[in-house]
Parts: sequence; structure tokens; C-alpha cells
Amino acid sequence: MCGIVGIIGEGEVAPLLVKCLSRLEYRGYDSCGLATLNSVGIEIRKDIGPVEVVASRQNLDLAHGSTGIAHTRWATHGGVSRENAHPHFSCDRSFAVVHNGIISNHHILRAQLEELGHHFSSTTDTEVFSHLLEEEWRPGISVEESFVHALRRLEGTFAIAMISAHDPKRIFCAREKSPLTLGIAAGANIVGSDVNAFLSYTRQAVLLDDGEYAVVSKNDFRVKEIATGKSREKQIVQIEWNIEGSEKAGHAHYMEKEIWEQPEVIRRAMEVSQQEIVSLARLIVEAPRKLLIGVGTTYYVALFGQYLLASLAGEFAPALSSDEAANLALPDPDTLLLAISQSGETFDTLQGLRMAKAAGARSAAIVNVPGSSMTREADLVIRQNSGPEICVISTKAAMAQMVLLTRLAIELAYLKGRGREIQAFKIIDELDRLPEIFETMLKDLQQRVRRLALQYKDKRNWFFLGRGIYTPVAYECALKMKEVTYLHAEGMSAGFLKHGTLSLIDPETPSIFLMPPMEEKALYDLTMGSLEEVRARSGPVIAFNPNEERGKFDEELSLPKVSPWVAPLLHLVAGQLMAYETAVALERDVDRPRSLAKSVTVA
Ligand code: G6P
Repeated sequence: MCGIVGIIGEGEVAPLLVKCLSRLEYRGYDSCGLATLNSVGIEIRKDIGPVEVVASRQNLDLAHGSTGIAHTRWATHGGVSRENAHPHFSCDRSFAVVHNGIISNHHILRAQLEELGHHFSSTTDTEVFSHLLEEEWRPGISVEESFVHALRRLEGTFAIAMISAHDPKRIFCAREKSPLTLGIAAGANIVGSDVNAFLSYTRQAVLLDDGEYAVVSKNDFRVKEIATGKSREKQIVQIEWNIEGSEKAGHAHYMEKEIWEQPEVIRRAMEVSQQEIVSLARLIVEAPRKLLIGVGTTYYVALFGQYLLASLAGEFAPALSSDEAANLALPDPDTLLLAISQSGETFDTLQGLRMAKAAGARSAAIVNVPGSSMTREADLVIRQNSGPEICVISTKAAMAQMVLLTRLAIELAYLKGRGREIQAFKIIDELDRLPEIFETMLKDLQQRVRRLALQYKDKRNWFFLGRGIYTPVAYECALKMKEVTYLHAEGMSAGFLKHGTLSLIDPETPSIFLMPPMEEKALYDLTMGSLEEVRARSGPVIAFNPNEERGKFDEELSLPKVSPWVAPLLHLVAGQLMAYETAVALERDVDRPRSLAKSVTVA
């Protein structure tokens, strides 16, 4: 969704801009560039390709100046080309702009500006802003005034950073429905799409709100309202995140590292205070209607929550994919909406949250990224504290969310007097043991999954099948496979298969069955029934198998024996590893899969 950075400091800022930009690459990586201000004016270097490639091809590090802005792009308006890469100049090259979001009235503005003689170099929506600035500026009008006038002419969503040769000691930035934060360091200030941009340099952050702009200099910053120009008092907040979280720590890819980090991430999810979970459980019990929302991986996490809340606590809380929530949900003051999001910025989920609040509903959120919009807008926030998740493919964040939802369902069960009936203390014990189980399991599975991946990597179509609570896990495993391998994978409830999709089963189409532990007899028997249907059509059957029985499948990955309530989490890890190892075997760009962005901040 595009990442933006701006730095104003003392020495050359280009090397630091490149480092900060690479921290935001999960927001997009089809092209990138930077602009620096120096004694001869503004210099722009940009090209297509990810940061590392463009940095060496265009010598980004060598651009001169102690003030600069940079951008990594995920194309929305205008194809992937050098011209469309940011930053964008005004005609006279006195303004340079980077932008994340969509300027919805760009056609009208462009026509007006062309009429006035402006020449455009790109087909992006963003470029209108640099020309607007040039148009608004004249001697006697400050750059800040020109910036604000130009901002007021924009419709749509934006996080913008701008530098100008007319005012070289400042960076100007603004936020409207696209994320933007400031990092406050000694002798330098940083503008970034989110805290990941500057976490290695400072933990002091200022979180901008929609409708605000900031004027940032080396030792100072001022925040004002775009609409009125009134000053806003802003707190400097301390971001408590592990800096090492941003490094690969000896792993080949961030995806692998983040899969292996899951034991630690579960520990941290177990450390989230009981009080917070109980508060959320109370909100749920008190609300006549409840909805869970998320999108992509977090929709599947929400679905997982739906199953848990129903089965452990007898609560019906339907999960909706937030991209469609607006068409289905109609929240009212009786509704409690629980949003689930790694980034806390995903447009669809944020919109669902805002819609619910506007309708008078109560709101809550489970979020990873500190300081993100959802952490500030939801009435009650559970911070999962999973540390930076860099790979575009979400793994550890989803795991922590599932653990937190399990804790939530247990607290709900207690509130409803069902704690003893579901033997809640045993489930908590199992969750506490889970990090240790995962540590052994990861070591144990790695080679076996690698072998399987090598053997099956050329199959073009895959199914991931499960029943009951294994269904959302099957969806999520299939999503991992699609995202990172570019192979077609469908996740489905195994019972649904016979209602049409069975026609696709053939000897070239492997089905991975998420087998429940045998003590869940009904679920186990039903899953076996579906498995036989696949086998009868000569479909290869691979099982993620937590049971001791062997030889019933073409291939199997045996999983540790745990209680039914935590078993689905083990299947999720097996699915993540399967996707990862298959992608490696196919030589895919694991951390930067084609066409994707981690944080989708447009509609
Ligand atoms: C994008 C990403 C997905 C992610 C989804 C929700 O679509 O590509 O990987 O699951 O957004 O993101 P969130 O940050 O809200 O969890």
C-alpha cells in the first residue's frame, strides 16, 4: 500500500532513508525512490524494483542532503514504471512529494492544472499534488500556507510527505485516512507510514490523526488541523517493541523466522493481562449482538473465533470479512464489534470499525502494531505484542490472535458459568505448554515438510480440508499456499467438498486433510468419510495427523498429541511450513510475493 519516509537531520540522510524504507517494504515493493534537498535544489532518484535492487542500481545512498523523503510503491493509479515511481516533482522542481492513498478527485485537478500549463510526467493520482503546490506558492505565501491550501483541495485518502527548495529546513506531512507517524530522535526527526520505519533509531513516536498536518524540523515539530490551521497538542509516546524483531536472525526469510518465533509470540499472548481479556468477555456478554471482523488472514482468525466462542462459551458471534461488512452488518447501539488486525490500519477493517462506532455500537480490537489507528479508535484494545511482522505473509500475528481468542472464549465460558463443564483450566494448561510443544515440533517437522514440498511442488492445484474448527484453519493454510507459492489452493470444509467441488479431484490434485485427534470421535469419523470420498476419486491424500494410527494416508505429517482445543494451532503451523517450503522449492520471492502488500490501506 506504499510506504513513506521523511528524515531531517544533520549529515547525509540518504543512507538512513534507504534503511528506513526497507523496513516498510512489506507495504509495497514494485518501485521506489527518494528525493533529497541540497545546495543545488532537489535531487530525485527512483526506479522500478524493490528497495535493495533500486538502491544499488540508482546509488540511492549517494544522494546528497540532510533533508529527504522516500517511497516504496504498491501501484494503485498508474502502472509500474519509473515515471510513476515516487517522489514526484512540480514542473519547476521546487517541490517533491511522496504519497500513500488515493486522491479521488485527481482527474478534475489534473485537467485544471493542465489548463494552467502544468506538464505531467506520470499517470499517478499523486502528481497532482506537487503541481498544486507550485500553483499555490508565490512570494509572500509561505510553503506551509501553500501546503495547507493544496491539501484542502484534495479529496480521498492520503499520507503525504513533501520537501521544498523554498523552505529547505523542514519536511511537511499530512494524514487523512492513511497512516502516518513521526519518530522523534536526537538531532533528527523522522516521518514514517508506521513505527516500523524508525524503530531501529527511536522508540519515541507521535501518532498523527486524520485531518492533521505536521511541520517537522531537525529538533522540533508542530502539528495542526488541516481544516482550521489550529495547533494540536500531541503526546510523545514510547513504543515498547523489540528492535531485534525487525532482523532476520539467521533465517533465510522473514517468513521462516516469523514461523519459528511463534513459541515466543504465544508466550507474549499468554502474558496479556487477564483483566483485559475479562473486560472484553464482559463487553461480549453484555451486548445483545456481536460481530467479529477481519480480512484476509484476520477474517479466518475471526472465523476461528466464531467457532471457539460458539463451542466453548455458547456465544453466537458471526465473523464477517470486513471488505463486505458494510454490505451486511448494519451495526446498531446493541452491537459489539470486535475487529482483528495485525497492522491496525487495514482500510476495510478500519472502515467497519468506524461504521460501527458511527452507528453507536461498542467496539473492541485485537491488534499487533502499537499506535496504529485501530488501537486509538476502538473502545477497548487488546495489544497482542507479537513484535514486528515483516513478511507480507502473516504467520505469527495470526497465531497470537488465535491464542487470545481461545483465552477470550474461556473467560466467556467462566462468565457464563460453563468453566467447569469445558474444563477450562486444562485448556489454559495446554496453552501454557504450547510454546514448548511448538519448539520441538518445528525442529521435528522441518525436514519432513521440506521433503514433501519437493515431492509435490509441481502440482498446480491443492485442497486443504477440515471440519468444524479445522475449517477456518484449512482456509488459512490455503491462503498461505496461494500467497507465497502462486499455486492454486482452496481451503474448504471437508463436508462441503461433496456438494460440487469433488468434481475437481483427480490424481494430480493433492488434498491435505487436517485430521482432528481421535477423541473428537464424531469430527474424526466425518473427516475420514470425506477423505474416503477423495480417495475413491484417486486423489492423493496428505494428512496432518495428531493420531498414532499410521498407514491410512498417502503421505502424513505426524503432529504431537495435544487436546482438541489447541490441536488446530498445530495444524496451522504445519500449513504455514508447507506453504513456506513449497515456495522455497519453487524459488519464489518468499518475503515479497508478487502483487501483494501487507497493509492494505485503500478501499
Ligand atoms: C492484506 C494482507 C493479508 C492480511 C490482510 C489483513 O490483505 O495481504 O496478509 O491478512 O491484509 O491485514 P491486517 O493487518 O488487518 O491483519
